[in-house]
Amino acid sequence: MKVLFIGDVVGSPGRNALKEYLPKLKRKYRPELTIVNGENAAGGKGLTEKVYQEIRDAGADVITLGNHAWDKKEIFDFIDEKDDLVRPANLPEGTPGTGYVIKKVGSYKVAVINGQGRTFMPAIDCPFRVLDRIVKEVRKKTPIIFVDFHAEATSEKQAIGWYLDGKVSAVVGTHTHVQTADERVLPGGTAYTTDAGMTGPYDGILGMDRDVIINRFLTSLPARFEVTKGREQLNGVILSINGKTGAAESIKRILINDDHPFFD
Ligand SMILES: [Fe+2]
Repeated sequence: MKVLFIGDVVGSPGRNALKEYLPKLKRKYRPELTIVNGENAAGGKGLTEKVYQEIRDAGADVITLGNHAWDKKEIFDFIDEKDDLVRPANLPEGTPGTGYVIKKVGSYKVAVINGQGRTFMPAIDCPFRVLDRIVKEVRKKTPIIFVDFHAEATSEKQAIGWYLDGKVSAVVGTHTHVQTADERVLPGGTAYTTDAGMTGPYDGILGMDRDVIINRFLTSLPARFEVTKGREQLNGVILSINGKTGAAESIKRILINDDHPFFD
């Protein structure tokens, strides 16, 4: 079976790129499940209900989050009502929302888990131990398990990838907004990439206005980051997974921008 994952959607440029390319990608790859990271989708930080619905209407089956999950406070009003919205699983007990969902896809069940790193990020619960526990639980129901690991440090992402190799179908990194070219299927059958990249502005700095960021580096003064306008891009990966065993068969990068145009 095929699973399509779209990297961090940033603001309205990201939503535009999603609306433009997701139908084309679906026609090309025919994924049974589409997962979109939406933690930056509303104004560059967080998720509102309207934007949540926009991403679902664009074709996402499951939306994952990350460290910006709570930046739009209205998420507290709807996160517990949705069965297709996943926040990092290793947040403290009692945090609203869920760290994983299991979706029925034809005759298969697919588990989607969101994890968050701790290196250069807030000190939350250990992602290794929490993911280990959830994977053991989920494997009683399905061997098809997708992990969006939202983290800053490449080493922590690689460590989670190798730690879960053979236990999950895929570990796909998010958060850095720059796509890495290290996609592979690890020996135990887990598809891995350090970062799927970002869906949003192509000419900003991680999606934000360049001048503001450059000025911040030049002056060290606090600044309000704004999602930049202009050309757009879409980044992601397409996975092929053995529906019986849950082992990944392939992982392929998707990179669409003016320098890498979309081909049918
Ligand atoms: Fe993030």
